[in-house]
Amino acid sequence: MSDLVIVGAGGFARETAAAAGPAWRVLGFVDDDPALHGTTRAGLPILGPVDSVREMAAAVVVCVGNPRNYTARKRIVERLGLPADRYATILHPSASIGAGSVVGPGSVLLAGTVLTADVTVGSHVAVMPQAVLTHDDRVGDYATIASGVRLGGGAVLETGAYVGAGALVREGVRVGAWSLIGMGSVVLTDVPSDEIWVGSPARKLRSADLTASPRS
Ligand SMILES: CC(C)(COP(=O)(O)OP(=O)(O)OC[C@H]1O[C@@H](n2cnc3c(N)ncnc32)[C@H](O)[C@@H]1OP(=O)(O)O)[C@@H](O)C(=O)NCCC(=O)NCCS
Repeated sequence: MSDLVIVGAGGFARETAAAAGPAWRVLGFVDDDPALHGTTRAGLPILGPVDSVREMAAAVVVCVGNPRNYTARKRIVERLGLPADRYATILHPSASIGAGSVVGPGSVLLAGTVLTADVTVGSHVAVMPQAVLTHDDRVGDYATIASGVRLGGGAVLETGAYVGAGALVREGVRVGAWSLIGMGSVVLTDVPSDEIWVGSPARKLRSADLTASPRS
């Protein structure tokens, strides 16, 4: 069993603590909100500010971000500047990792995630429950895949792409870097970078406003 500290104390952080399984001893969370220090979340302590993980002899996973701020994970990883081998890869015991599939450091696969075969998931990727990634899919660093998403074979999510809950992505289709797909959307054609697309078939809603939530 290895020690693990989770960066963030919000919903995804607590879901990751619950997903960690018997391979990990979760020591607690770190968060920059001083009001949280000394309190507990999901039965685990808030150990201190984010930067304190640098001094801790534990593996780390960064579990921040939501649809309004999906660049936060990248900014924290860059700020911490930790070597890749400090990062844990958290696979819920019920996640199914098919032959030839790889998952990068700092990534989290929640309950019931399926990678069928030859799926490549980068670093610091968040995959919510019951997502299905099929053969030859490629998911870039910092991407987020919400619950119930289905990716057809050979689909590509570029760096930081956010695919909302229950969305479907047709086989071979590419979602550009830092673009967001609204929940329940059906993506039939390639999506450029930095755009928000919604609906069935998915169409551009607007450009992604990454000024409040910058790419870097
Ligand atoms: C796409 C999204 C980011 C837009 O949010 P928003 O900027 O607050 O947009 P609004 O709710 O003001 O909607 C703007 C328009 O887009 C439409 N719209 C928004 N989300 C939509 C969706 N998922 N599918 C279809 N249409 C959508 C709205 O009906 C509205 O249309 P109108 O102008 O004709 O009335 C958001 O709806 C979404 O889907 N987020 C992902 C949520 C998710 O997956 N969460 C899971 C993890 S917690």
